[in-house]
Amino acid sequence: MDFFRLYWRVLALLKNDRWVAVGLSAAAVSLAGLQFLEPVLFGKVVDLLSKTDRLPVDVVWTEAFVLLGVWAAVGVSGIVANVAVALLADRMAHRNRLTSMSHYFQHVLALPLEFHGDVQSGRLMKVMLRGTDNLFGIWLSFFREHLITLVSMVVLLPLTLTMNWRLGLLLIALVIVFAVLTTLVIRRTQAAQAQVEGLHTELAGNVQDALSNVVVVQSFTRLNSEAKMFGDIMRRVLDQQFPVLNWWALVNVMTRASSTVTVILIFLLGTWLHLNGQATVGEIVSFMGFAGLLIGRLEGAVAFISHMLFQAPSMAEFFQVLDTVSTVPEKPGAQDLARAEGTVEFDQVGFGYPRSGKILHGVSFRALPGQTLALVGSTGAGKTTSMQLLQRLYDPQEGRILLDGVDLRDITLESLRRNIGVVFQESMLFNRTIRDNLLVGRPDSSQEEVERACRMAEAHDFITRQPKGYDTLVGERGASLSGGQRQRLAIARALLKDPPVLILDEATSALDAATEAKVSKAMKALMAGRTTFIIAHRLSTVREADEIMVFDQGRIVERGSFQALLAEQGRFAELVKTQLTGVS
Ligand SMILES: Nc1ncnc2c1ncn2[C@@H]1O[C@H](COP(=O)(O)OP(=O)(O)OP(=O)(O)O)[C@@H](O)[C@H]1O
Ligand SMILES: [Mg+2]
Repeated sequence: MDFFRLYWRVLALLKNDRWVAVGLSAAAVSLAGLQFLEPVLFGKVVDLLSKTDRLPVDVVWTEAFVLLGVWAAVGVSGIVANVAVALLADRMAHRNRLTSMSHYFQHVLALPLEFHGDVQSGRLMKVMLRGTDNLFGIWLSFFREHLITLVSMVVLLPLTLTMNWRLGLLLIALVIVFAVLTTLVIRRTQAAQAQVEGLHTELAGNVQDALSNVVVVQSFTRLNSEAKMFGDIMRRVLDQQFPVLNWWALVNVMTRASSTVTVILIFLLGTWLHLNGQATVGEIVSFMGFAGLLIGRLEGAVAFISHMLFQAPSMAEFFQVLDTVSTVPEKPGAQDLARAEGTVEFDQVGFGYPRSGKILHGVSFRALPGQTLALVGSTGAGKTTSMQLLQRLYDPQEGRILLDGVDLRDITLESLRRNIGVVFQESMLFNRTIRDNLLVGRPDSSQEEVERACRMAEAHDFITRQPKGYDTLVGERGASLSGGQRQRLAIARALLKDPPVLILDEATSALDAATEAKVSKAMKALMAGRTTFIIAHRLSTVREADEIMVFDQGRIVERGSFQALLAEQGRFAELVKTQLTGVS
């Protein structure tokens, strides 16, 4: 059953703490044993008391003291074991929760864009928090409760057979009834619970989506409809959840009932056996104690199993994310390109996204170090896609892409991306200080280097005019800066990174003409001496490119210099004319 595999996997995460786990297990085993000793001792006391009229007084006292001594020892050992378990288990669980979180965080950050495109960050966050909370709960309850329950069932229950096999069989029957009952309910409720969990995830995703677009929500007065969306999912969650709850309520009732029934049965069977001389009063008392103990443990186990079932889908989701492997794997012997010269070659590249048809067809071009190539063409033609392939966010299905003559698939991802700088249309900034955002380019840059880059990017002046200069916080996604300011920061960041290959994807198209003129000076500084790819809709910006490639439906349909293309009177000339006159 999947359930046990999941459980095992959760426990296996503790492998780095295996010695602590072994110690905890030992403590749990002794706790289980100690718990079983108490009813046994109790039974012995009763037997001793029922024999007082047949034994000499001093023998009674000696036996009583021996029993009391053992009892005291059992009590003290129990306390010691409990404290040890509580201390060690809590620490281990806290430590490992954070470790798992950090592991998940790093794993998710490294997953390719293809994965992030499909999954909303709100969901990823929810899966992480819920998943690690559940791990924490399972680890704790395993060492504090379930291991003890397990040892009681597997080792101690059969041992009761040696005390009195008839009463022992009765207890075993009780456990079997319990196990069967629970398994049935598990079977019935598993699918429904998985759906509930799926809905919860959907809910988290939608909330995140609404929160991150709060401006749209408010300006389009979407408050009510967003709230309604929430209400709809909420109703679906409850519709699925209630039947599951009914089943578990039934289990609870049956648990209670079976405990009463068991005690009555032990009493009945015990009395009958006692009358036939097959059980002492003490044994009956001990078995009643066992029954109470076992029922308590079983109740705990059932509660846990139901809880675990509620959590299982979210745990499964957690592991599913952890099991996602990169679609752009690094080859074992991949080469580390220290600093590339900057020759980029596309060789008959064909590509389609996982859930789209073919987007690029036989795209070939070559850029020599320091050259500037422009990619133009209508929207959706595949310009951004080509540049994503160059950064190896995806691998092409046909052909190959080479950097300095080496196939991208043979270069380590780290060194490839170190060699490529990108400035996007939306300059993505962290909600950190301006300096921290710049240092993303190269963390070890000095203040002088940072300032020099900012001067080249025409950013230094506006930065020093900010309230705290370089230490000003920029707000989420740089919200407290204007588009042009954000863009100049992005350029400065790329200057600091100083990559031999540069991609400018619509880097200036969000700017007005005046700001663009300002930024274009910064751009020129940035492009100097690098192999540069410019994607631009404003064709005036590509005038100086060494070669212009016109994309249409995933193919390069024309290429050449600005003048040559104009003279050709083809697609490009058409595009230019449209931009100048506004009519096609
Ligand atoms: N992640 C994705 N999954 C599936 N299809 C995608 C994805 N990204 C882009 N596409 C599709 O690929 C095609 C090319 O998109 P691309 O972004 O490369 O165009 P573009 O030339 O950069 O356009 P624009 O000038 O508007 O930026 C489009 O038809 C688009 O719908
Ligand atoms: Mg694009």
